[in-house]
Amino acid sequence: MTEAKDSGEQALAEAFAHALEARARAERLADERAASLERADRLLAERAELISRIEASPSWRLTAPLRWAKRIARRPGARFGRRDRGAAGGLAAAPRGEGPQSGARAAAGGPDALRRRPWRAGDEIPARALEIEGMITPEERRLLYWLARRYFDGAGAMIDAGSYLGASTVALAAGLRDRGDIVPPGPLIAYELFEVNEPMLKWLPRDPRIELGGSFRARFDDNVAGYEPWISLIAGDIREHPWDGGPIEVAFIDIAKSWELNDFVIANFFDQLIPGKSVLIQQDYVGEHHPWIHVTMEYFAEYFELVEMFEVGSAVYLLRESIPPARARTSITRELSAAQKLRLMDSAIERLGGERRGTLECAKASLLAYLAGERAAAAQLDYVRARYAESERILAAAGSVADVAPILKPRLDAAMRETTGFHAGG
Ligand SMILES: C[S@@+](CC[C@H](N)C(=O)[O-])C[C@H]1O[C@@H](n2cnc3c(N)ncnc32)[C@H](O)[C@@H]1O
Repeated sequence: MTEAKDSGEQALAEAFAHALEARARAERLADERAASLERADRLLAERAELISRIEASPSWRLTAPLRWAKRIARRPGARFGRRDRGAAGGLAAAPRGEGPQSGARAAAGGPDALRRRPWRAGDEIPARALEIEGMITPEERRLLYWLARRYFDGAGAMIDAGSYLGASTVALAAGLRDRGDIVPPGPLIAYELFEVNEPMLKWLPRDPRIELGGSFRARFDDNVAGYEPWISLIAGDIREHPWDGGPIEVAFIDIAKSWELNDFVIANFFDQLIPGKSVLIQQDYVGEHHPWIHVTMEYFAEYFELVEMFEVGSAVYLLRESIPPARARTSITRELSAAQKLRLMDSAIERLGGERRGTLECAKASLLAYLAGERAAAAQLDYVRARYAESERILAAAGSVADVAPILKPRLDAAMRETTGFHAGG
């Protein structure tokens, strides 16, 4: 009897202790939430101030890209620029005798050539453009070189968004240089922050000039040496440099590293793409950590034709029809519901097979972690591990998503708050 009473009291005491603990936890969480709301409000205010400072500054508009069209040579045999594009019907003929394959020029260029994916033959690119340290594959470099050298016809600018140490920049600049008919500075606009932060430090090469909190600009400068005349570099945060350079013919996007940056890229560049001509490359498409890109490309699916998708990395698109400015200003982060995001992710997965599909299944886990938290992601990752048990690459991708899953929901919540009022600046 006494024993029963004792154990009853003990259970009661334990329940009471649990209740106290739960209340303390709830209070702590409420405090943390209040602190993070306060921080988000502060960020919002800082952002609004920054935007008004940028808008007030006379130098906020880009000037370099506006003028590039005038710098294209009007050599005999070369037909460049909007004025002559119709007559040329695509890429201009090469000036005689310039470049090792100048005879192939007239046959190259244009959407049909693009659809044949000539970069796969893999024989035409200077060794230097393959050697520069970077985060893109030789196949991606060949694609960029081909686009600059054979496809580009002067209808718009070329964007290298996220240059890192210059690998993508040099692949594009080398293509422009080797065609021999563009007088520098050319139409290539490269964006890079050059900030050495913790995640970057893991990737950056050892160099006494590179340290946490510093800049890796010096290393970039070494790598692009000799190609500078063809590059207009915009150093700093891309979000502080709204695009005002007119139509864009080739956009290599390797900078959409967050929901917010992705929204910026769309609002900044998408309505400048030229129907039937512009090529958009989403470098992070075949990857597990950027689900906003899959959601985005499905959301805009009717506007794009998929031309190429590498085993890892880039998906390459040709723009079918103009994207209306209002549509391009859609915030994927804020304006699509969680259900819409998931539905678009599923339709992206449905298009693929093999390991690329497995990679996107991992990206779906990443999306679930953003939308619903770690546990929802874990269930998807269990499915991935069972379905792709034979693939080391997919298992590694699943592990990599599992590692970051706990921090993703707070990150999206913060991005949602931070993008509030975002378009007021763009
Ligand atoms: C994956 S790396 C680019 C790799 C590069 N395309 C190559 O060929 O090796 C992405 C780059 O985007 C840059 N970046 C990220 N956020 C940025 C921002 N807000 N403004 C400008 N650059 C940014 C990073 O500093 C980083 O170097």
